[in-house]
Amino acid sequence: MSRAATLETARLLLRPFDDDDLDGLAALCADPDVMRYFPETLDRSASEKFAGRIKAHFNLHGFGPWSVEVKRGGRFVGFVGLMVPTFKSHFTPCIEICWRLARVAWGQGYGTEAARAAEDFAFGVLGRDEIVSMTVPANLNSRHVMERLGMTHEPADDFDHPNLPPGHPLCRHLLYRKRIAPTVPMPSEARI
Ligand SMILES: CC(C)(COP(=O)(O)OP(=O)(O)OC[C@H]1O[C@@H](n2cnc3c(N)ncnc32)[C@H](O)[C@@H]1OP(=O)(O)O)[C@@H](O)C(=O)NCCC(=O)NCCS
Repeated sequence: MSRAATLETARLLLRPFDDDDLDGLAALCADPDVMRYFPETLDRSASEKFAGRIKAHFNLHGFGPWSVEVKRGGRFVGFVGLMVPTFKSHFTPCIEICWRLARVAWGQGYGTEAARAAEDFAFGVLGRDEIVSMTVPANLNSRHVMERLGMTHEPADDFDHPNLPPGHPLCRHLLYRKRIAPTVPMPSEARI
């Protein structure tokens, strides 16, 4: 188990999930607008189980979907972070970057700002050379965050989400990737 990190951006704090976030998380996951591209909204008990999975992810990996707090006002507005998917697909194992913000927090750049901090953590602290993200084709807001991060989509990577039954309207997913070049020393820095 590693110590969970806290990240900070100009306007946001990304911190490990706290039990005080549970009301905010439950409200977020019960909102049909927020959950439009998920199979269902979550009731309180399902959100409590979800919070348990978030905490378990932090305990196991030292990172996860961070609770996003707007520094001015100290408001919980959702989560943005990194997850290790537990399902198997052609691109797993991998690190997924993900986000879910309250409707009132959309349209202010918070999603992309928080996601940049999370991707810096994946590349700079975890030393990964690739992150992925996934969503259904219709989720344009989410795809735009991916594109603002410089993630790219190859149709050959599209996949059926294994956690959904074949034929489910949300089954087909697009995969976006961002790779960074491995650090290769410049000739002047290379040891001769
Ligand atoms: C995905 C999600 C986080 C994107 O939210 P978003 O508000 O569209 O994206 P951002 O937070 O990056 O904000 C960008 C918008 O804020 C605007 N903006 C306003 N002030 C800004 C500022 N100071 N800095 C940057 N952008 C700003 C941008 O112009 C952009 O608006 P546009 O989309 O009309 O061009 C949000 O829609 C969401 O939580 N959806 C529900 C959950 C979900 O589907 N998650 C993904 C599952 S795969």
